[in-house]
Amino acid sequence: MNNMRNFKSILVTGGAGFIGSHVIRTLLQQRPDSKLVNLDVLTYAGNLENLRDVETNPNYTFVKGDIQDKGLVHELFEKHRFDAVVHLAAESHVDRSIENPMAFLETNILGTATLLNAAKNAWSEAEGDRCFYHISTDEVYGSLGDEGLFTEQTPYDPRSPYSSSKASSDHLVRAWHHTYGLPIVISNCSNNYGAHQFPEKLIPLMIRNIRDERPLPVYGEGVNVRDWLWVEDHASAIDEILHRGQNGQTYNIGGLNEWKNIDLVHELIRLVDASLGREAGSSMKLITFVTDRAGHDMRYAIDASRIEAELGWKPSITFEKGLAATVDWYLKNGEWLDSVTSGQYQQYYDTMYSNRG
Ligand code: NAD
Ligand code: TYD
Repeated sequence: MNNMRNFKSILVTGGAGFIGSHVIRTLLQQRPDSKLVNLDVLTYAGNLENLRDVETNPNYTFVKGDIQDKGLVHELFEKHRFDAVVHLAAESHVDRSIENPMAFLETNILGTATLLNAAKNAWSEAEGDRCFYHISTDEVYGSLGDEGLFTEQTPYDPRSPYSSSKASSDHLVRAWHHTYGLPIVISNCSNNYGAHQFPEKLIPLMIRNIRDERPLPVYGEGVNVRDWLWVEDHASAIDEILHRGQNGQTYNIGGLNEWKNIDLVHELIRLVDASLGREAGSSMKLITFVTDRAGHDMRYAIDASRIEAELGWKPSITFEKGLAATVDWYLKNGEWLDSVTSGQYQQYYDTMYSNRG
């Protein structure tokens, strides 16, 4: 086992988003000696409601701002003397990247470069342990056929504007490590699910539409496969990698849990119908096959043996339990679901899905 590292002042970017909010909660619980600063510009996907329970924690500070703002990022490094960065801020939705790729290049590529430069400048003379931790996705590896798993050695083959912007940012992080000696780690994770995920992504979108008896838009024939991981397990993997990962290393994180989209939609129908006391299968009639996503990756699946062998991490809960808890959370938090899906989101939904025919 690697030695435990200890960071006093951690910059978390994108902490008001889905995964970031779970990471902040996990770090505050697990690392009471670390101060956290959450830098988030609060796009449609960022929501301070996700962090209501920790906002008065003395180890937590929120700063509203853009990771591309060089002056602000520099000031924050000066003021808080960060010894670690956990970088999650990103534009994260593939369908939006197809509609508007430039926002993805700006935040995911230029924003990452801005943070890397700030860390390099602040840490060039610094004594002691430092870590720039970049959170990435398995989508950088491209698309699998029926067989095989992505390992850390799989060549990059990103195929959407989102995944190519994330691949670019991974390359920049490695370049800053090799060229300037910046201490880094990277992890590439599979699809996450759980509480507080913006309902443009498959699982919360389907739960909401089943609840509201609206059409369930399944892309293509619903045969694409994703590997689903409980978001709190991703947060615990990030905590482990930050504190015990090796400098310069990449770790794949996955759920060992592959599902065909259509099978997952059937499972969600079963769970939501049961929770709402509807007759079993009564929402099956809502399934609507719609025009496929352009360039839709067929299958993602992760070989997570390195993180298990090196850090002893593996998923803690079964998909059966995690999915049931997730359905329960969205049904109990109808107000959250309704508030984030009003206004702008409704416009996005109407435009995006009316195009699909
Ligand atoms: P999300 O879209 O829910 O949250 C992104 C957060 O980043 C939001 O709070 C948003 O306001 C903030 N943000 C966006 N642009 C910003 C900017 N320019 N400056 C500051 N803040 C900005 O995303 P998520 O699902 O929580 O994903 C977090 C990270 O994890 C991303 O880097 C994503 O690529 C990666 N990832 C996500 C998944 C997944 O299944 N969701 C899987 C693997 C990796
Ligand atoms: P998504 O949650 O957008 O994650 P990603 O594209 O990053 O894997 O989509 C998961 C899968 O579900 C993907 O194969 C696309 C599919 N999908 C639908 O069939 N219908 C939908 O409305 C959405 C949002 C996704």
